[in-house]
Amino acid sequence: MADPAIPYYAPTGDECALFEHAYHHRLPLLLKGPTGCGKTRFVAHMAARLGRPLFTVACHDDLTAADLTGRYLLQGGDTVWTDGPLTRAVREGGICYLDEVVEARKDVTVVLHPLTDDRRVLPLERTGELLQAPPGFMLVISYNPGYQTVLKGLKPSTRQRFIALDFHFPPPEAEATIVAEESGLPRDRCVPLVRLANALRDLKGQDLEEGVSTRLLVYCATLIAAGMKPDRAIRAAMIEPLTDEPDVRQALLRVAEITLG
Ligand SMILES: Nc1ncnc2c1ncn2[C@@H]1O[C@H](COP(=O)(O)OP(=O)(O)OP(=O)(O)O)[C@@H](O)[C@H]1O
Ligand SMILES: [Mg+2]
Repeated sequence: MADPAIPYYAPTGDECALFEHAYHHRLPLLLKGPTGCGKTRFVAHMAARLGRPLFTVACHDDLTAADLTGRYLLQGGDTVWTDGPLTRAVREGGICYLDEVVEARKDVTVVLHPLTDDRRVLPLERTGELLQAPPGFMLVISYNPGYQTVLKGLKPSTRQRFIALDFHFPPPEAEATIVAEESGLPRDRCVPLVRLANALRDLKGQDLEEGVSTRLLVYCATLIAAGMKPDRAIRAAMIEPLTDEPDVRQALLRVAEITLG
């Protein structure tokens, strides 16, 4: 029986072992892969398995170093230092997960660098502290190489501080199991949806920026499990989210017709 306290994650390779090695050897980890392929779920699963608290930050283009480390906040007339999520992870020996890290402002790398080499320290300029990361601390970052722009790539001096794992959509057999597990739809009814997802993924690059994610497949199966007609669910969860172009939509619907017969 799976442990209900550990978020469900079906491995598709040796990623769990690699994560454990990285954790035990105090190496930071970089996850790359398309949207909705299981990166966030994987980190949640591994943090629970290792029994470490998880601090997740969704990075955006306004995110600064102070958002991660902390700042002085006004509290009833006093200014009180408040740790940011990165500082809390360091103090508590937890896992800090920075999602879509390439979005963050450039000054973020300044705080990440001393934490991600053999020093493992976090300097807090504002409080004058120099925090030494305990063994339980781990930094995990992720990004989607598909959205990377020339301006927003990670600098080599940053990326070469991390060991990296490349994520892909799971192979069909595994993906059908995941979709069934997540949606409650019987597995034999998930198989054709996965087949359709892979047919649509083959169009990536021609008409589509990104293929159907495992996340969308789970949505689609969830709607069908709740009683929605498959045609309608497929359109709502696997076609419309991919494109706004009427021609492309027609082409995708045609692929669905052919694939599902
Ligand atoms: N290997 C897997 N095991 C279990 N569930 C999975 C797996 N891969 C994908 N999923 C399902 O797909 C959903 C989306 O995965 P997740 O949120 O981890 O994607 P992501 O890679 O973090 O995407 P994004 O880059 O958009 O943040 C999960 O909520 C889960 O239902
Ligand atoms: Mg994610």
